[in-house]
Amino acid sequence: MNDVLRTLDRIEISDREEFERAVLAGLSRTPRAIPPKYLYDARGSELFDAICELPEYYLTRTETAILTRCAAELARLAGPGCALVEFGSGSSVKTRLLLDAMHEPVAYVPIDISRQHLDATAARLRRDYPRLRVEPVCADYMVLSALPTDLGRSPRLGFFPGSTIGNLEPRDATSFLRRARTLLGDRGALVLGVDLKKDPRRLHDAYNDSAGVTAAFTLNLLRRMNRELGATFDLGGFAHDASYDPLEGRIEIYFRSLRPQTATVAGRTFSFAEGERVHTEFSYKYDEAGIAALARSAGFTIDKTWTDPDRLFAVVYLEAAPGN
Ligand SMILES: C[S@@+](CC[C@H](N)C(=O)[O-])C[C@H]1O[C@@H](n2cnc3c(N)ncnc32)[C@H](O)[C@@H]1O
Repeated sequence: MNDVLRTLDRIEISDREEFERAVLAGLSRTPRAIPPKYLYDARGSELFDAICELPEYYLTRTETAILTRCAAELARLAGPGCALVEFGSGSSVKTRLLLDAMHEPVAYVPIDISRQHLDATAARLRRDYPRLRVEPVCADYMVLSALPTDLGRSPRLGFFPGSTIGNLEPRDATSFLRRARTLLGDRGALVLGVDLKKDPRRLHDAYNDSAGVTAAFTLNLLRRMNRELGATFDLGGFAHDASYDPLEGRIEIYFRSLRPQTATVAGRTFSFAEGERVHTEFSYKYDEAGIAALARSAGFTIDKTWTDPDRLFAVVYLEAAPGN
């Protein structure tokens, strides 16, 4: 076996071990919860792309329209010769709007936890942007302490679209932004896509689509546990459960047991009562004051905010506040 294959094997074994530890810990605590990053295996990433196309899921369409409108101004604010660093890059579709507008970007660094999807996306970008240096980083952006890529002294423009910030609880959102602030440096800036508070019905529908794609995305986590951890979840025994909590200002997503049952994970048996839920994801919604407070808490100032005419979504340009 050559060194590269041995390294890949090691990475995959440690990914699997980490996943197993997180699942066992998450099912052992009260209330039960599994961190959202595990929703994104290769199939999860494909399902997320399908969610982005759903009529009920206004987020992607709206953010894309805003970015189309403001890309030239974002490029002007960032200046020439930047390295674009994207957190949770997925299929890097919106990224192309920025890359097309930016003046002589020196590199694109997509960071994502979903390894296969990241590699396939990087290959497509290299094909479509042959002059651009594309340096994918497969990592958890919550623990990444430095970029493994040498970007020299180029200013760094961060990109965190897709309302992914909403998946983080407020304390984690602040610590993520602080980390991003450090990774991007004192001359850095960040383009952030944030979903805004709105009619709860509209929010509910966005996470309960009639085609059942969001349900398939949540329940894919059970499939992943069965495949990667040898777990014994009955795939028909659980349902997707998503609702908006107006007090917390967040969508809460779970898988819910449809009857009393047990499942084994890595030799341990867990019982689930009928109606018992396992939390998989939050999606926090913000208002302008909340975005300003979040930016401030992490050492950023808001340079400019763009929204759509219905104020469904916001794109914010944050600059590193001096002295933070
Ligand atoms: C909501 S999707 C957004 C995808 C894309 N940026 C967009 O706007 O359509 C979140 C993305 O972040 C990645 N992700 C989730 N948690 C992560 C983590 N802790 N570290 C790195 N990537 C993560 C997922 O694999 C997924 O591609």
